[in-house]
Amino acid sequence: MLKHQVIVIGGGLAGLRAAVESARLGADTAVLSLLYPVRSHSGAAQGGVNAALANMPECKDDSPAKHAYDTVKGADFLADQDCAEILTTDAPARIYELEHWGVPFSRTEDGRISQRPFGGAGYPRTCYAADKTGLYILHTLNEQAVKLGIKVYNEWAAIALASDGALNHGLVALNLQTGEIASFAADAVVFAVGGAGRIYKRTSNAMQSTGYCLGVAYKAGIPLKDMEFVQFHPTTIVGTNILMTEGARGEGGYLLNNQGERFMQRYAAKAMELAPRDIVSRSIQIEVNEGRGFPEGGGCVHLDLRHLGREKILERLPGIRELAISFLGIDCIEKPVPVQPGQHFIMGGIDTDKDGATILPGVYAAGECACVSVHGANRLGGNSLLECVVMGQRAGAAAGKFVKGKASAIKEAVLNDAAKKATAEVEALLKSSGKERLVNLRDEMAQTMTDQIGIFREDKAMREALATLHALRVRYRNVGVDAKHRKFNLDLLRTLELGGMLDVAESIAAGAVARQESRGGHSRLDFKTRDDANWMKHTRAHYTPDGARLTYTPVTKTKWEPEERKY
Ligand code: FUM
Repeated sequence: MLKHQVIVIGGGLAGLRAAVESARLGADTAVLSLLYPVRSHSGAAQGGVNAALANMPECKDDSPAKHAYDTVKGADFLADQDCAEILTTDAPARIYELEHWGVPFSRTEDGRISQRPFGGAGYPRTCYAADKTGLYILHTLNEQAVKLGIKVYNEWAAIALASDGALNHGLVALNLQTGEIASFAADAVVFAVGGAGRIYKRTSNAMQSTGYCLGVAYKAGIPLKDMEFVQFHPTTIVGTNILMTEGARGEGGYLLNNQGERFMQRYAAKAMELAPRDIVSRSIQIEVNEGRGFPEGGGCVHLDLRHLGREKILERLPGIRELAISFLGIDCIEKPVPVQPGQHFIMGGIDTDKDGATILPGVYAAGECACVSVHGANRLGGNSLLECVVMGQRAGAAAGKFVKGKASAIKEAVLNDAAKKATAEVEALLKSSGKERLVNLRDEMAQTMTDQIGIFREDKAMREALATLHALRVRYRNVGVDAKHRKFNLDLLRTLELGGMLDVAESIAAGAVARQESRGGHSRLDFKTRDDANWMKHTRAHYTPDGARLTYTPVTKTKWEPEERKY
């Protein structure tokens, strides 16, 4: 049995930041990661990270309070306002810390961190490093983890928690390199496992962003919160759905329909292309649905950057230029890029308090997999990397303090039981010769989510989707694993992942069917308006073998009364 005081699951931005904090507090800390940390999906984050630094001439009177207001309004008033205030108040310190650790932020003429406009923000507030911000932050945090000597278990998949219901005692994980299943004793476990984009067909998320690990927490009795709120990024490359950063519009890029019109004029006359993402994605979808889109990839619009000029594109947006050249053969200096909305983020996640603590003592969560809630029904661009570093730091601190100076209360018997159960499940999968094929089940799930729990939703289609997901969960019991070898058995890994993905997908669909209003990313054709009287509340999905059981809790308000969102 391996043993650490704190184990962080996930080596992306939130995970590394949590691990660094817990190690700095003196806790014996390890990271357990599916991938080598620098390959985490955080590295694909492009446009930047928000903080009210007031560095640009046009944002001299910006402040954390204004950032919090924009966040709460962007969230369609479902964010907990105290948490949004923590996010934005902690932001400047976290950014300067990253700067001091060596993140090569792009600079103003006088050498300060440069800030670009992003959607739904009252000021240019997004700090950036060209259009590779996530990659630079990830590498910088990795350096800090190396410096602190944090042990990293690379290429391990967490498959179960070891909880007795009152306290968590560690986790069970599969070593992909050997096929060995091991138990890890840990006084505190921090989930920092990223998003669940691969539940959808069209997603900007990397292959590893399956969200199965949310299912590990969920199955251990920790509720998932506000799962029905899924973000669709307006501009992903048609076909592959690779991200074309919002920074492109922040730098002045236009969205054009097949008439050559800047159609955002119709939907958000003031903010135009820089309205929040839920609004821009819906607007694109309406243009496509009403015949004003282009046919590629089932419908798209054009992202036109030509007027920005070669020099600005090469300086500020070199990454997306390379991506459009590589994947479409289109150089955005010369031609518009066909783009369409794609799943990008889940606002919901593992239910935590403002320090990342879950209801299960000894278990924490941070980053995209967590729901604090700072994003409510719709996240602002640039607030995701921020959440990773702010909430990563807070969760790491909370976990570090939880274990500090305390005699370990780990019960080996609980760990052994969890390991025995997980091993039996994995062995059963390896032996299984069931008739169902992984690829078919996964494809049907992803297509169902994209088609029926997408940008626009309505009761009948969502109920059908829920029924499909229930049927898939039953069929999953008869899935066959073709590859029987132990080392790097990706067939086995993908099958294990699919079990968690189906649970998570079902929680999204169940929350969406139940919520009879439109708010942020949850836009219903049959309930077109926001209903604060009945629905200004958080959804909590509790795992049962038959599907999610939903309960609701109030939203915390501090300063801001709900208002109509106009941009
Ligand atoms: O568009 C982007 O660069 C993405 C940023 C984000 O999701 O925060």
